[in-house]
Amino acid sequence: MFQDPKRYQAKHHYVTAAGADLVEILAPRAGERVLDLGCGTGQLSAQIAAAGAEVVGIDSSAEMIEAAREQFPDLSFVVGDARDFSFAESFDAVFSNATLHWVKPPEEALACIVACLGQGGRFVAELGGARNVATIRQGLIGQLAARGFHPQSPWYFPNLGEYTRLVEQAGLRVAYASHFLRPTPLEGESGLRDWMAMFAETLTADVPPPMREELWDAVEDAVRPALYDEGGWHADYWRLRMVAYKE
Ligand code: BEZ
Repeated sequence: MFQDPKRYQAKHHYVTAAGADLVEILAPRAGERVLDLGCGTGQLSAQIAAAGAEVVGIDSSAEMIEAAREQFPDLSFVVGDARDFSFAESFDAVFSNATLHWVKPPEEALACIVACLGQGGRFVAELGGARNVATIRQGLIGQLAARGFHPQSPWYFPNLGEYTRLVEQAGLRVAYASHFLRPTPLEGESGLRDWMAMFAETLTADVPPPMREELWDAVEDAVRPALYDEGGWHADYWRLRMVAYKE
């Protein structure tokens, strides 16, 4: 998904900052085994480990895992696909922040999550929900279409009913679920283009690099009325949060 850990940490640390209160919802306890699914560079894994839990971080990006191992050599990190993983020993909790909207089909990830949880184990997750970054997406897709590009969306942003149904069908009982708007400040005057360059790489993969600056300019112009004010740029994040149990 992401191959540049330095850029990710330097410009997109709000992803981790926003995940800190998800760690509070997880409420890890000493001695628990917790899987951090989509751990990236491991910042939230380290917060979970600080509570005394035994954490394993998993991410599909070898570069992110390498950076996580460098920063947190005492923790355990593995490269793995969210749709196809298994562990010999079960977990008390699977935690996942800002990852599952990249994983299609969702059923495959949920099957692996359920299989690796022990009886009574919990799944605590946040992902982009319906309407997530809709203004940015519409701006990008509109400007790409005007230039003859019609890429597939790399994202899965379900609504609350659809995702809770999938989670329950996979074998968990949903105890809490919420879908809410979290306008998220993007740092600096280049905040929106930094976000697009990092996160919309797959949407713009066919756009020749010399055309990209002009594309970013056009998207900025299109979405500025909705996403720019005296505080600078913000992204229209809609989050889906849930806690579910394996009974
Ligand atoms: C998100 O965390 O909601 C997100 C991040 C990157 C691209 C799309 C959505």
